[in-house]
Amino acid sequence: MAKKTQEDNELMDKIVSLSKRRGFVFPGSEIYGGLGGTYDYGPLGVALKNNIKDAWRKKFVASRDDMYEVDAAILMNSEVWKASGHVAGFSDPLVECSKCKHRFRADQLEDPTKCPDCDGALGEARQFNMMFSTKIGAVEDSASTVYLRPETAQGIFTNFKNVVDSFHPKLPFGIGQIGKAFRNEITPRDFIFRVREFEQMEVEYFVKESDWQDAFTLWQKNLNEFVSELGLDTSLVHEVEIAEADRAHYSKRTIDFEFEYPFGQKELFGLVYRGNFDLSNHNVEYQDEEAKEKITPHVIEPSIGVDRLVLALLLSAYAEDEKGGEVRSYLKFKPSIAPVICAVSPLLKNKPELIAKAREVYTTLKQEFGRVMWDDNGNIGKRYRRQDEIGTPWCIVIDFDTLGEKPELLDTVTIRDRDTGEQERVQMNELVGYIKEKLN
Ligand code: GAP
Repeated sequence: MAKKTQEDNELMDKIVSLSKRRGFVFPGSEIYGGLGGTYDYGPLGVALKNNIKDAWRKKFVASRDDMYEVDAAILMNSEVWKASGHVAGFSDPLVECSKCKHRFRADQLEDPTKCPDCDGALGEARQFNMMFSTKIGAVEDSASTVYLRPETAQGIFTNFKNVVDSFHPKLPFGIGQIGKAFRNEITPRDFIFRVREFEQMEVEYFVKESDWQDAFTLWQKNLNEFVSELGLDTSLVHEVEIAEADRAHYSKRTIDFEFEYPFGQKELFGLVYRGNFDLSNHNVEYQDEEAKEKITPHVIEPSIGVDRLVLALLLSAYAEDEKGGEVRSYLKFKPSIAPVICAVSPLLKNKPELIAKAREVYTTLKQEFGRVMWDDNGNIGKRYRRQDEIGTPWCIVIDFDTLGEKPELLDTVTIRDRDTGEQERVQMNELVGYIKEKLN
């Protein structure tokens, strides 16, 4: 793996600082000194995540007639996690330093015998289960232990029969779910890349055993299309076939889609053939009407971590250029996922005529697109810099020409392009059409 350069470190620092400064991602519980491995999303981070999740829903659920979506409880009966193999096998090798007592994941260390913090001796590796457990109800005994789900997938398998009984789908069909997952990671790190609470978008696509390879290939194509449609720089994504010894306990085949993060090429999302491991362990069957027999369907699982995708999109969109000795940083998000589609500003904020006209434009665009921001803070140059930094594709300014100072420009506005900095004059009543065309 390529070594981290100073440039890589600087890029991560810039992304972390921009995320906080502009309201994408904040450290969790910050005013109490933080809580390791947790982050909070601010207004722009929420908007970006929602755009990603909406795109996933549109592509993988709403536009298809072989897909169903569920929203299962995070707390599940602990028998689920015994049957799924997570109680026995969802663990990482933990080592502890005999001197400073810091703990590490043995498989992530260059030398698993020496402490990277103080050079002290590391003890024997022991398996550490990554599920968070808690107690349910008022009586605390072994029967009351429940786990926060470490993957959304099991909420799909446990609802397989419910979906079949209510909708009678024919194979192949899939069930998708978006939701939180929790893992007590030994060493959370790299901003929102490895955290203890994160969000997944998962599909379990059920097929007859004989059809698994075709379905796998199709989902491989679907996943590549999805990230390309979000505007991710796909030259930074690499498919890696995972060897049997390194696969999860339920996997018969895994492809990791790895992204070139500044801290190394690491997993962004995965595609797994889980065989019929889960449904057979949960004793769930499906009546195959054609073959007139009960079968246990096999499953293909495309699983995407929302937080890792947010980070990859931020990194892939980040750009800098220089004009007149001044460095400008901007996020060149594809307009369809940008948290704000356009910002509307009056040229000056103490001229009521300008403000009234700008409000008219703002209200029309807000009603049409929703993700529209009113921005009258600071001078126009500052507003452009701020909108560039949050990735707003278009800034619209209402000036004296809009009011008819030059009669031929009456009711026109300037619209500035984030990436080129070029400005065009567009008729107010053509703005919605202009933006719609660009968005498509
Ligand atoms: N149901 C299969 C499953 O959970 P996984 O590879 O363990 O498989 C799927 O997780 C995806 O969830 C990963 O590709 C990654 O995007 C995301 N993910 C896993 N652990 C994570 C963590 N600690 N922090 C952020 N995202 C994580």
